Amino acid sequence: MASVMEKLITPLASGPAEPPRNKVTVVGVGQVGMACAVSILLRELTDELALVDVVEDRLKGEMLDLQHGSLFLKTPKIVADKDYSVTANSRIVVVTAGVRQQEGESRLNLVQRNVNIFKHIIPQIVKYSPDCTLIVVSNPVDVLTYVTWKLSGLPKHRVIGSGTNLDSARFRHIMAEKLGIHSSSFNGYILGEHGDSSVPVWSGANVAGVSLQKLNPDIGTDKDSENWKDAHKMVVDSAYEVIKLKGYTNWAIGLSVADLTETLVKNLNRVHPVSTMVKGMYGIGEEVYLSMPCVLNSSGELKSTSLSELVDDRKNGNLGGEALDVLELLQGNPTLERLQALAKRTGVKVARLEALAVGQKAVGEEGVGGRSPAEEEELRNAKLNVQLREVFAARFATMFTDYESFVIQNSPDLESWLTNREQMHNFDKASFLSDQPEPYLPFLSHFIETQMFATFIDNKIMSQWEEKEPLLRVFDGRIEKARLYNVRAPSLRSSVYQKCTFLKESGKKL
Ligand SMILES: NC(=O)c1ccc[n+]([C@@H]2O[C@H](COP(=O)([O-])OP(=O)(O)OC[C@H]3O[C@@H](n4cnc5c(N)ncnc54)[C@H](O)[C@@H]3O)[C@@H](O)[C@H]2O)c1
Repeated sequence: MASVMEKLITPLASGPAEPPRNKVTVVGVGQVGMACAVSILLRELTDELALVDVVEDRLKGEMLDLQHGSLFLKTPKIVADKDYSVTANSRIVVVTAGVRQQEGESRLNLVQRNVNIFKHIIPQIVKYSPDCTLIVVSNPVDVLTYVTWKLSGLPKHRVIGSGTNLDSARFRHIMAEKLGIHSSSFNGYILGEHGDSSVPVWSGANVAGVSLQKLNPDIGTDKDSENWKDAHKMVVDSAYEVIKLKGYTNWAIGLSVADLTETLVKNLNRVHPVSTMVKGMYGIGEEVYLSMPCVLNSSGELKSTSLSELVDDRKNGNLGGEALDVLELLQGNPTLERLQALAKRTGVKVARLEALAVGQKAVGEEGVGGRSPAEEEELRNAKLNVQLREVFAARFATMFTDYESFVIQNSPDLESWLTNREQMHNFDKASFLSDQPEPYLPFLSHFIETQMFATFIDNKIMSQWEEKEPLLRVFDGRIEKARLYNVRAPSLRSSVYQKCTFLKESGKKL
């Protein structure tokens, strides 16, 4: 007997199901991932949405919850799985997986943990969707976009980072509020690195083509009596403020990623400030990702617009009043140098900043030993940094000498550990804290929640299967040395720690 289905629907043609045309995958179903997913669904940009995460229950829960709303959506298929085969044939893949900053924490602190996660994710995405465009959202977004590009092997125009698209949206909102107009009617860009060191382009700020800088030549500078510069400070502070208030940011980034997705899938050729590989632009000879206004379209062509106006932008808020040309806007800005240093820390090889060095020597400002003033300052900061770190490291070495089993090694192999890490109990916090002297508990209980400490524990666990990370090697070496010399902390813990004797040693090593 024919089933209800057979009686109701008579197929006129049969054959394999058509592959999706505009499939979008979101990796990471946390706060940001779900805000991206919902924004993309509500804007009706995709015929299939795939979600991936390592936490299976949450992943399934999010998928079911969205599917239950399908009556109100125009996306016929919403799928989710831990296995990346679910992402096959994606046109756009949005990567939001990874850890986020805690209150007061900088985005840059997240780099090592998120790079480890990306090493697992990116090859899987490319395996199943070799023709996709990747939009990286996880922080620090510029470094991770560079790392993604390297890990994916995709051409540079198919890997972008959400970059300063969000910073620019925040800027437009804040400026428009001040002017009493809608955000879309204030035009202006924030470029460079997403977050703390982003660069506002005051020379381009306009309403209906009327330049604000022409109306107020001091705009964006300290000389400006109206203090418009404050709008950029508000942009930089805004993520910290929202995180302090609600624990994370998600709606604005979700909406902005949906906007980028729309431009890509509908071939709109709109201009967005997204993180792109800037090598070859404005004379930059190095591989580094920074945000520039880019023309985005579905053919995957990515063009950066020419910013000749910036040549005259001598009053840029972030750059002081000194004479600048467009090269210096990026090269004289420590952003480029800092991003390269960070990318190096991730283990992905980058070239030296020759252009910067050459540019600065050309103006006759060579410092000590052939180093430019910028390099000198970098070295001074690095020395101070290392020395401060040594003081902490010496204290921690003393603390850990007596405490051998603080790391819980509970996985048979690296792959399964990386996949299940977030649900695992990697560190015995309670017994560690119960072992420490009372006066240190307020500091230690917060410290063990930082990404820095989590990275340390990750590296400890990963050293079972991979070569030890150099800093961990130094740390373990010190613990061994302390044990060898029997410099053990007294069994009844006191607040007295061993004096740090490594200061000079480490200064010299630099
Ligand atoms: N670029 C921007 O403008 C911007 C804005 C806001 C947040 N962010 C960044 O986005 C990221 C996510 O933030 P969030 O608030 O959603 O964090 P969250 O903790 O809520 O979610 C992160 C998700 O990633 C998942 N995850 C972890 N490891 C994974 C792996 N190996 N594979 C797949 N999924 C994995 C976690 O299970 C979790 O569901 C953070 O790095 C945050 O700093 C960027």
